[in-house]
Amino acid sequence: MSILRIGVIGCGGIGAVHLRSWAQVADAQVVAVCDADPQRANQAAAAIQGAHAHTDFHEMLANEQLDAVDICTPPHLHTPAALAAIGHGLAVLSEKPLARNPEEARQIVEAAEAKGTMLMTAFCHRFHPPVEAVKALLDEGKLGRVVMFRNRFGAHFKGVETRWFSDRELAGGGSLMDTSVHSIDLFRYLVGEVTAVTGAFATFNSTLQITPGAVEDSAAILLRAEGGAIGVIESSWQTPFSANVVEIYGETGAAVIDYDKDEARYQLEGGSGWVAIPREARDRFAEEVRHFAAVIRGEATPRMTGRDGLRAVEIIYDAYAASLP
Ligand SMILES: NC(=O)c1ccc[n+]([C@@H]2O[C@H](COP(=O)([O-])OP(=O)(O)OC[C@H]3O[C@@H](n4cnc5c(N)ncnc54)[C@H](O)[C@@H]3O)[C@@H](O)[C@H]2O)c1
Repeated sequence: MSILRIGVIGCGGIGAVHLRSWAQVADAQVVAVCDADPQRANQAAAAIQGAHAHTDFHEMLANEQLDAVDICTPPHLHTPAALAAIGHGLAVLSEKPLARNPEEARQIVEAAEAKGTMLMTAFCHRFHPPVEAVKALLDEGKLGRVVMFRNRFGAHFKGVETRWFSDRELAGGGSLMDTSVHSIDLFRYLVGEVTAVTGAFATFNSTLQITPGAVEDSAAILLRAEGGAIGVIESSWQTPFSANVVEIYGETGAAVIDYDKDEARYQLEGGSGWVAIPREARDRFAEEVRHFAAVIRGEATPRMTGRDGLRAVEIIYDAYAASLP
């Protein structure tokens, strides 16, 4: 196959990361970029030789010869952008969450399946080298049966009250939807399918508190996996001093991925303490888009699908529905 022609929709924060990542993929070329903000679209296109700028994705899809699109817009646009791209028969990589709610996510998945086009949810953490190393330990049975999974991602999200992240109409939810969607996917990937979930949600940001229908800025959920393992997932936008960590405890071993220190380690029964997982320079975003391109070329089987994106949003809505008072 010749060079894959990619269109990127949304050139904001993560769009810029994806554009840098695509530049590292030898057999793919970003030929078109789209952002509703013309300055952003022009700036992004100017940095890529031969790329055209657009401000309307329908117009981009109608006028460009593309093989795939990479959707990096806020969540309320994932569904219309994905459906339009699928309508043109294109492969789609969509940023997380796949959509604002299970109904929209299901619409995207079913449209791709009906059209026979490839759909992938951008769960970049699956490509984080320490996550890959821990997944290998689990697959080899080194940690034994998983008993518990713990994860926390927290920070102080300054100015969130002025961004789409805090608008339920645009985002579909708060820190659970935006941040813990990655954690739910990690739990499913590393431990197993979720059979039950409950949660507690809070809004501490005083500016958000006065917004009608304010999204949560802090969330904790408790999950059960098939096989019995228990998961605890926490996220907050209101905790400047926070660990960012995944911990997995099995019957014969444990593993810790420390995102703050960029360190990971494991300990096995019969061993002599913690063993450091060697640091790797590979970047999860570049690995993600490289994998998407390899799947389009038929050189790899998808490591995550649209259905994984749908399942994560379903679990989020189940957690909201089962919220503690
Ligand atoms: N995987 C990750 O680690 C990660 C990190 C950050 C964000 N994200 C996800 O990426 C998506 C975008 O987040 P972000 O932080 O880049 O947001 P952002 O606000 O920084 O960027 C969004 C961009 O979309 C553009 N846009 C808005 N309407 C548009 C339209 N109709 N057509 C084309 N472009 C349009 C905006 O002008 C902006 O440039 C979200 O779904 C978010 O959850 C993922």
